[in-house]
Amino acid sequence: MAKGLLGIESLSRAEIEAILARAKDFQPLQNQTNKRLDLLRGRMIVNLFFETSTRTRTSFEIAAKRLGADAVSITASGSSVQKGESLVDTLNTLAAMKPDAIVMRHSASGAPDFLARHLETPIINAGDGTHEHPTQALLDALTILDHRRTLEGLRVAIIGDIVHSRVARSNIHLLSRFGAGIVLCGPAPLLPSCMAQLAPGVRLTNDMRQAIEGVDVIMMLRVQLERQNESPFPAGEYYPFYGLRLEHMTAAKPDVLVMHPGPINRGREISSDVADSPSSVILNQVENGIAVRMAVLERIMK
Ligand code: NCD
Repeated sequence: MAKGLLGIESLSRAEIEAILARAKDFQPLQNQTNKRLDLLRGRMIVNLFFETSTRTRTSFEIAAKRLGADAVSITASGSSVQKGESLVDTLNTLAAMKPDAIVMRHSASGAPDFLARHLETPIINAGDGTHEHPTQALLDALTILDHRRTLEGLRVAIIGDIVHSRVARSNIHLLSRFGAGIVLCGPAPLLPSCMAQLAPGVRLTNDMRQAIEGVDVIMMLRVQLERQNESPFPAGEYYPFYGLRLEHMTAAKPDVLVMHPGPINRGREISSDVADSPSSVILNQVENGIAVRMAVLERIMK
């Protein structure tokens, strides 16, 4: 693996497998009374978030601490970015304090790649614009593997705002590496035909029932209104066509897994009775976020 983690696209299947195997080692720790290891004692990460985050930022911080490292979190609103400092200057300033890795989230696709070329400090991408969110795809894979023997040959539907989703892109790269069949589903304005070219064998449909039929996993996505100037459909039009509801579950396999990276919008892309149903592994995804981020931090900082 390169010195940081910028995306899934640049990872080999063997590298992905190694991270997932190590994350599995860390899973039992999350339920122990003493959750702290000493593997990264004396190391430090800086979490630099230019976009909002609950799960990702907290779990990187917890992951670092469970490995015995220190973690400092900064949000753009409380930093000198507000005073006009450039991204490179902000990153160089933080790098001068000698962290062992910088975890960053930014609204511009490619910002972590750009900074990685300017900095010696390893950069971990915690979500860049509509581009990639590598640790999300890794924790999604780990969650699927908690319930299925292999990703090979699995059928996965990703439903919602595909075009603006870094979660979808990272998952497409990861799942296709393992030969999973992927169907992308959403309203036409959020599902341009070029999305089929992201990986071989990706199918597109605007019909939710068609997407769900026979799949092993349903991944729901939030509509990323913050990445659009205008809503691509009239208010109230989305949920009746693309909101996952109990009535859809009868068309799905009985043991289908329902996933969502969060934050979920109940009654907008998913109903409460599905989000809280036994098929839902949404909170397992959150839990696995810590084990996966421990594996990634260890790999990069050890
Ligand atoms: C996602 C993100 O930020 O890309 N959330 C997350 O990290 N769990 C998805 C979203 O914001 O909808």
